[in-house]
Amino acid sequence: KLHVEMSIPLYFGWFLFYTVQDQVRETATKFLKTLEVLESFKKHIISGKEEAKEVDLEQYFKAKGTLHCTTKFTDYGKAEGAKEYTDKQVVQDLYGSVSDLSLSALFITPRTVGARVSLSEDQLQLWPADAEKEAESEVPGAGALPLGSRAHVTLGCADGVQPVQTGFDLLQIIMLQKDGQQGEQVDIDPGTLTYYGEGRWYLALKEPISATACFSSIYK
Ligand code: A2P
Repeated sequence: KLHVEMSIPLYFGWFLFYTVQDQVRETATKFLKTLEVLESFKKHIISGKEEAKEVDLEQYFKAKGTLHCTTKFTDYGKAEGAKEYTDKQVVQDLYGSVSDLSLSALFITPRTVGARVSLSEDQLQLWPADAEKEAESEVPGAGALPLGSRAHVTLGCADGVQPVQTGFDLLQIIMLQKDGQQGEQVDIDPGTLTYYGEGRWYLALKEPISATACFSSIYK
């Protein structure tokens, strides 16, 4: 008798459709270009010793691979809870399903650039209950944030920075917002841009970007 079992992938997530990836990349590039010429951005560039007059953010952030929103990093079964997640009924049932991700904000830090994903009730069924808690050691207090707070699409990383950092950077910004930190606000065309110090910028989009994506997994 043939026994077929799903082998555990590197990670599960929603993978943006190709045409949508191009649109999102374009929007991200526009965002970086807007920042580059913004007076308040230039003022806050932490450049070490020298006064940086110009910065090329598109050079600074390296884009990596296909755009997606990770639900569970399973690491071929080595990650904690990998098998449990893979075996979940809802994961099996919704594998291959297509839905729209709502990208509600864009953010950059000296380490990463990403898009915040606001998950729907249905999409939250695929979100691991401990995703925010797992970030607790990196972002103290993150475990108490609502489920799905960590959901994001990594758009680029600075040299030597791993993509897992994007979720931590987002959680850190959400923590600051929760603590009532006002930041420094600038109104720009696509929404409200807030500077939270230490090179952290957050653009809340007036119109969220709807990105069609397929729930699936990847083996490399
Ligand atoms: P992200 O979801 O922020 O983009 P890598 O290329 O390092 O193997 O990572 C593959 C994908 O899995 C990336 O999308 C990455 O981050 C995500 N990822 C890597 N490590 C973790 C982790 N420990 N927890 C959650 N997601 C991770």
